[in-house]
Amino acid sequence: MADALPPKPVTVHELLSMKERGERIVVLTCYDALFARLLDAAGVDVLLVGDSVNQVLAGEETTLSATLEQMIYHTKIVRRGAARALVVCDLPFLTYQISAADAIRNAGRVLQETGCQAVKLEGGTPVAATVRALVDVGIPVMGHLGLTPQSVHALGGYRVQGREERTAERLKAEAKALEEAGAFAVVLELIPAPLASQITKALTIPTIGVGAGPACDGQVLVLHDVLGLNDRFTAKFVKHYAALAEDVREAVRLYAAEVREGRYPGPEHSFSK
Ligand code: KIV
Repeated sequence: MADALPPKPVTVHELLSMKERGERIVVLTCYDALFARLLDAAGVDVLLVGDSVNQVLAGEETTLSATLEQMIYHTKIVRRGAARALVVCDLPFLTYQISAADAIRNAGRVLQETGCQAVKLEGGTPVAATVRALVDVGIPVMGHLGLTPQSVHALGGYRVQGREERTAERLKAEAKALEEAGAFAVVLELIPAPLASQITKALTIPTIGVGAGPACDGQVLVLHDVLGLNDRFTAKFVKHYAALAEDVREAVRLYAAEVREGRYPGPEHSFSK
């Protein structure tokens, strides 16, 4: 019997075709090789090395202090575990806003040093020229609109964006600007579902929603929320598919009790000679 062919890697072109075919795109955040291997095997299409790693794993309040070195480290180890999924690295705050030349240098380092296939950056019209500059040198870019966490202080907190007519119109125009600049997809975070639906219909590139309702072409969530590992964070749009934080606490309580009572290691875990 012939060996099964290795799965065909997901490309940015494949994501566009998926939109055309009406197939939903599955995206999760991922920060390490172990989870990358598990998510890849489970058929996740895109592994997003989000700068949320700075909050979820590093315990910081915001994403603002994430560094390029930190993102390169996490993206490199995610890439090691990914066989099929497309790996996208978030460009951290101030690595792409200062100048297009800076953005090319930093995003170029990310691609060269990690082996990932694309970068993500936040913002619309103000970064459109930078998106174009990156795309022109061959760096695929995913956009990010709505609640853009790197602007949390300017936005006045983690709140739904685009509820008023004026901001909704601005978001529609910004999504179009990103598409015209050559972005291959755009994340829509924390915006009303009807607005996300309008943007999704108006674009030829896929929209990836997080707290943006069911009409987007794909969905992304933070893996540790999905698994119920990060039980300090709750939000209306998050669905917990497991409750691993409690499982971890329970397993560790049991281990600690067995060590203290001399029940672990037992004979089956010990070498007699
Ligand atoms: O940093 C991140 O995890 C993200 C996603 C939630 C879209 O940007």
